[in-house]
Amino acid sequence: MKRLVVIGNGSLGLWWCFHLSQLQKKSLCKTFLLTRTEESARSISENGVIVEDKTTAECIVEKNNRTILNTSSTVSFHCNSFSNTKQLSKELEDSVDIFLLCVKQYQLKSALENCAELLSPKGMAISFCNGIGNLETVASVVGVNRAAAAVTYEAVQRINSTKIIHWSTGRTVLADTLTNSPELNANIQFLYDVLRQQNLPIELLKSVDARKEIWKKLAVNCVINPLATIIHGRNGLLSDRIPQSLFEGICCEIIMTAERNGVILELDELMAQVLETIRESSNNICSTLQDIQRGRSTEIDALNGAVVRLARNFGLLVPYCETLYHLIKAIEKGQDTNKTA
Ligand SMILES: NC(=O)c1ccc[n+]([C@@H]2O[C@H](COP(=O)([O-])OP(=O)(O)OC[C@H]3O[C@@H](n4cnc5c(N)ncnc54)[C@H](OP(=O)(O)O)[C@@H]3O)[C@@H](O)[C@H]2O)c1
Repeated sequence: MKRLVVIGNGSLGLWWCFHLSQLQKKSLCKTFLLTRTEESARSISENGVIVEDKTTAECIVEKNNRTILNTSSTVSFHCNSFSNTKQLSKELEDSVDIFLLCVKQYQLKSALENCAELLSPKGMAISFCNGIGNLETVASVVGVNRAAAAVTYEAVQRINSTKIIHWSTGRTVLADTLTNSPELNANIQFLYDVLRQQNLPIELLKSVDARKEIWKKLAVNCVINPLATIIHGRNGLLSDRIPQSLFEGICCEIIMTAERNGVILELDELMAQVLETIRESSNNICSTLQDIQRGRSTEIDALNGAVVRLARNFGLLVPYCETLYHLIKAIEKGQDTNKTA
């Protein structure tokens, strides 16, 4: 049976862990979780994690015309969790077939380096990080024949170490690769097959199409994350408070930069995706705002910051992305000042 290890016990890591632990019950795979701290590993192994699914919640209109949200469904799961790779290796009894990388983009390299020796020579490490350049980072650690990247529009939030909220369902696209290795393709196919058994909207694309999806998701994040952070609101507020011309300005800069990087995107398609994501995740607090609220670093360097860097390589100007990048950096710095003030 294939051994799957989720790296990172944050919002997305616990979401995939939940699904993989259901698949383990059906004897379709063995699931493990690698956490950063011993405390988290012990808590998840012993107490489990609660998943509150808001996608099953219904809006009910009361007699007095007040709209209320009906209760969402709640389930819990347990997962064999470790912070120590030696203990994990002992429990695995063999090498890892698939690593699902669910850490922040700036933690990707070090998190993978920490456990890369556990990966089978025929295994795969797949990044679910937002932003651009993640596939190359994974390949720099495990080699091109074992590296893959995915994008997901699922919206999940970790409330504390034992609870996550699933705010909205979205497509998950597997997978961008740098080679056409048969072992890599077999692992991607396996992941696709098992996750589909959980009735998740998983898509398997050719690498060239998956790369387009990664840029598309980049555009969505470059619009929603900085703007929702600046207005300090849930994603849904964006459609009321920000003119669509600003969304378009950001998207046009990404289309221009993507084109120089060999990826052709259409404005209509990007705008439709941005507006759909805002609608679908209207109750969600985007990850950049969550990071700011928790006093953590954001992923803005891999989002608008990455567009600025890539555009500069081609002598392009991207003033919308550059302004938003600097504003979020200023908000991050403000947190440091507040902490020391
Ligand atoms: N959440 C979503 O809905 C969503 C959707 C699409 C894409 N994404 C992308 O997915 C990635 C993860 O996002 P997230 O929301 O899950 O972030 P998150 O909640 O901050 O989770 C990151 C987790 O990684 C853990 N971690 C850090 N270094 C580690 C290491 N060396 N080994 C093991 N675990 C380590 C952290 O542990 P500690 O808790 O101990 O610090 C934390 O629990 C990001 O790139 C994000 O943009 C997220």
